[in-house]
Amino acid sequence: MNILLTGGAGFIGAHTVVELLNAGHTPIILDNFCNAHPNVLTRIKMITGVLPKLYQGDVRDRELLKRIFNENKIDSVIHFAALKAVGESVAQPLRYYDNNVSGSLILLEEMQQAGVKSIVFSSSATVYGEPKTMPINENFPTGATTNPYGTSKHMMERIMMDMQRAQPDWSVIILRYFNPIGAHASGKIGEQPNGIPNNLLPYVTQVAAGKLKELSIFGNDYPTADGTGVRDYIHVVDLAQGHVQALNVKAREAGTHIYNLGTGKGYSVLDIVQTFERETGQRVPYVFKERRAGDIAECYADPQKAWRELNWQAKRQLPEMIRDAWHWQKNNPNGYENETFQAA
Ligand code: NAD
Ligand code: UD1
Repeated sequence: MNILLTGGAGFIGAHTVVELLNAGHTPIILDNFCNAHPNVLTRIKMITGVLPKLYQGDVRDRELLKRIFNENKIDSVIHFAALKAVGESVAQPLRYYDNNVSGSLILLEEMQQAGVKSIVFSSSATVYGEPKTMPINENFPTGATTNPYGTSKHMMERIMMDMQRAQPDWSVIILRYFNPIGAHASGKIGEQPNGIPNNLLPYVTQVAAGKLKELSIFGNDYPTADGTGVRDYIHVVDLAQGHVQALNVKAREAGTHIYNLGTGKGYSVLDIVQTFERETGQRVPYVFKERRAGDIAECYADPQKAWRELNWQAKRQLPEMIRDAWHWQKNNPNGYENETFQAA
């Protein structure tokens, strides 16, 4: 299939491009590089031997979308393009709603114009808010979000479901990711956060690399086994393969299809630190701090539905996720910098 990936140069997008190529599909990337580096394309070529087709631009640019749909016979779109920093979304809600929600509306309208009726949407476990019980399955209530980023994801889910109801021949696949970490085993592509990382694993790798002094662990008084927050960390390559599998199984089946993509296992912040130290031999100094506003004690998936219906399940365990994240960090202290991008 010819697959358009909006935000395809980002962390999850780039890994999905590689897995789509491995599975014999043709990925086409649309990205404005607001949170990605053009060198990611040459890295993808180093891994796969293929330099994917790129359109540099914004998903809100209708003329560009028209051109892409005219120039390519797109079978399905994976819509990754979004802004994703929670704190920033609280400070700049309009920018987040414009980029994430308006961007999705324009994309859907142009898909409709072009007769492309299949979309995979990057959603998040954040749409579940603070569930009363664990593990979380797809029937849990959604919408009790605590920040504009999470609300934008919930709004986009609703918009896509309403649209599918009105256009019953569409296939809408909503994938709710838990906590993606790790990197491609080659060490060629990985996560390059802007500035000081907000998320745990990039922070830990930068402490181990000596770029940051120590990790602040936000809260050691949660009702969890060791008092620190528990999350469902999933290897980004497993997550990418989940997209390929979802497309293979559901892209041609009309309806709205919703899946959690997680492992079903929860690990605490201290589990992460200890596993990191054991697997890499690096020390990760830490201090306990107050809980972070908006955080929940624990969050992990019931991944059975994806296993049952998509025949997909995450295979990589925590030590491998951590080794791969460290391999990427060690090989690329400056991320994707220091190379000259050469267009196709
Ligand atoms: P990322 O920032 O690495 O990737 C997003 C990509 O979209 C970037 O390459 C960015 O340049 C591009 N982009 C943003 N706005 C754009 C626009 N208007 N036009 C064109 N390109 C645009 O983030 P990621 O971690 O790869 O996340 C991908 C998707 O998955 C996002 O929708 C994110 O909200 C969602 N998600 C991520 C996580 C996570 O922890 N990484 C968890 C749940 C959901
Ligand atoms: C974050 C986002 C969420 C998004 C999810 C998946 C926030 C508030 N939420 O959630 O919207 O869907 O990522 O990408 O950013 N921690 C520390 N010290 C740190 C960083 C994190 O102790 O420096 C702890 C957190 O308190 C949490 C765990 O580590 O218990 C994981 O944090 P993080 O990686 O930010 O992910 P989430 O909080 O799950």
